[in-house]
Amino acid sequence: MPTESVTHQEYVDLCKKIWRLNHLYFVEHKPEISDEEFDFLLDKLEQIEKHHPDWVTPDSPTQKVMESVLGQFKEVKHITPMLSLANTYTKEEVEDFLKRVRKLTGHEKNRYSLELKMDGIAVSIHYHNGKLKRGLTRGDGKTGEDITENIRTIRSLPHELKDNSTIEVRGEIYMPHKAFEKLNAHRKEIGEDLFANPRNAAGGSLKLLDSSEVAKRELDIVCYGIAEETLGELKSQGEVLKTLKHLGLPVVSMHGTAESAEDIFTFIDEVEEKRAHLPFAIDGVVVKLDSLGDQKKLGATGKTPRYAIAYKYKAEEAETVLLGITVQVGRTGILTPVAELEPVFLAGSKISRATLHNADEVLRKDIRVGDRVVIEKGGDVIPKVVRAIAESRKEGSQPWHMPSTCPCCASEVEKVPDLVAFRCPNISGCPAQKLQRLLHFVSKGAMDIENIGEKVAEQLMLKGMVDKPSDLYRLTYDDLEKLEGFKDKSIKNLLGAIEKSKETTLDRFIFALGIKYIGQQTAHTLAKRVGSLAQLQWMSHEELTAIEGIGDKVASSIQAFFNSKEHQQEVERLLQSVHPKTIEVAAFKGHPFEGKTFVLTGSLQNYTRDGAGGLIKERGGLIGSSVGKKTDFVLAGADPGSKIDKAKSLNIPVLTEDEFIKML
Ligand code: IVH
Repeated sequence: MPTESVTHQEYVDLCKKIWRLNHLYFVEHKPEISDEEFDFLLDKLEQIEKHHPDWVTPDSPTQKVMESVLGQFKEVKHITPMLSLANTYTKEEVEDFLKRVRKLTGHEKNRYSLELKMDGIAVSIHYHNGKLKRGLTRGDGKTGEDITENIRTIRSLPHELKDNSTIEVRGEIYMPHKAFEKLNAHRKEIGEDLFANPRNAAGGSLKLLDSSEVAKRELDIVCYGIAEETLGELKSQGEVLKTLKHLGLPVVSMHGTAESAEDIFTFIDEVEEKRAHLPFAIDGVVVKLDSLGDQKKLGATGKTPRYAIAYKYKAEEAETVLLGITVQVGRTGILTPVAELEPVFLAGSKISRATLHNADEVLRKDIRVGDRVVIEKGGDVIPKVVRAIAESRKEGSQPWHMPSTCPCCASEVEKVPDLVAFRCPNISGCPAQKLQRLLHFVSKGAMDIENIGEKVAEQLMLKGMVDKPSDLYRLTYDDLEKLEGFKDKSIKNLLGAIEKSKETTLDRFIFALGIKYIGQQTAHTLAKRVGSLAQLQWMSHEELTAIEGIGDKVASSIQAFFNSKEHQQEVERLLQSVHPKTIEVAAFKGHPFEGKTFVLTGSLQNYTRDGAGGLIKERGGLIGSSVGKKTDFVLAGADPGSKIDKAKSLNIPVLTEDEFIKML
């Protein structure tokens, strides 16, 4: 059906159909059609929308993704540990590896499987009777996090295999360059921190708790292995790749075999030439002994196998001229020197700025304005200046020094004790710091007020409407009318987004405050343990450090933050509008205590009975008074009573206080 002749009713029907299929796919996990057919329909919808842009509503499947909210990730032990690879950057080391393998296998000739080393996040995926059951991150190699809901959003990963195999597949989740650029462009627009490289973006995306958000990230996957327990009769890595392919799984795209060092190096060089043109990031080539029998024989040392090695490519470099050095002021006043460069192409994009990290580094590397410099992009978006080419230095050039005053507010800068950094001390007055703090406050992981990007924030501050985050909640329609380019619709959208942000969660709110050392993860940890911001505000140092994951540095930073009168007043003003919700319930979803009945006996060292009971209940557990068939655990302190004997006779596990703390 040519898209031009589609009627509006047909378009609406197609939207509805896609929504239904989407729901089956993402929420019920029972897709009715193949991914390919689904993509075909989505593609068709996009074509129609191109011809009829006026038909598109925010409810179109092209504009919105299905909601499916997850709790915190559950930790799961790997059946077969997930190993890592020994890295090398030199061909000599590859030769050494081949020598070692010859010695260990006892064969003069060995066949190797050569594969791209994808630069992403390792995952382990379980299929049970052909059905996708579970996806785990590598974690520490022994225990990973259950990210099943998130990996289900990856379009190329089948939810059902082509037969009913029960198999544990190993692979790499990555973000293709295109998706990565799109994501960062969007983040820039809305004033959020950019991801440094596609690998971080993939990792960050997999950690999102809302899988409908993950779906938007356009992640992809390739598979390169099968865990030992489920290898069955397979004899070689070549057969492993073939099997994966037959099962309908996406397999690492460029691979080959070789028996000599020479052939291995040819493959490595060929891939390096193609590297810049690949649609995804790789960081090297993996050389694996092909025979699985020999692999088993060689085994592993610690975390890396003896039968494989990763040859990694060096970062890509380019040469250009350093035109000047500017200084950026961050949210906490830290000054960062930035290299302004004569534009040059590097790893496929035009570069005109690069980071110089800090003043010490500029001096140490003796990088001067006017120098020819080498810049590097090791898969990172933010390129860095590696070194100056001293021979090309012009006469009369001078070493660079951090300016003695802030480039924004002209305050005298100061050196941060114990750090190589310099800072503008004008915390409450420096416009650059205020702007960065406001941008942090509205950023996606914080209050998520998408409509405020750098330009809007700047205008709001310049026009004197917003000086600190709490002022956002006092903005009126009349105020916003004065902003450049703002019309009825955009004003209403912005006011709507501000209004919506009032109903946030406590972790987001804590993160939004911009307390030093409190990233999203730490904010989440805190929010799980405190019921309200008021509680956090008055917690003692001891209480704070008693929380797992909170050390002295973070605890002191929290206290210093709330000790400031200015911060107290700002928090108070914010809380007049914002009502952060506690996140306890969701935080412990899937906890091993969920639905389990505990009986407590004896006296505990670290908790009162009620205290321990509270922690169990918080995690979805129940407290029983006597030991019986329905008891799942007995928690025994010192001098336990007869309950312990009863538990033993019924084969009910008895936990010591230490074991209990670990499980918490
Ligand atoms: S094999 C025991 N093959 O590289 C060997 N790994 O540095 C396990 N990777 O954790 C890995 N592409 O995340 C293997 N073709 C490939 C790979 C690959 C990327 C990653 C993987 C692994 C890491 C080790």
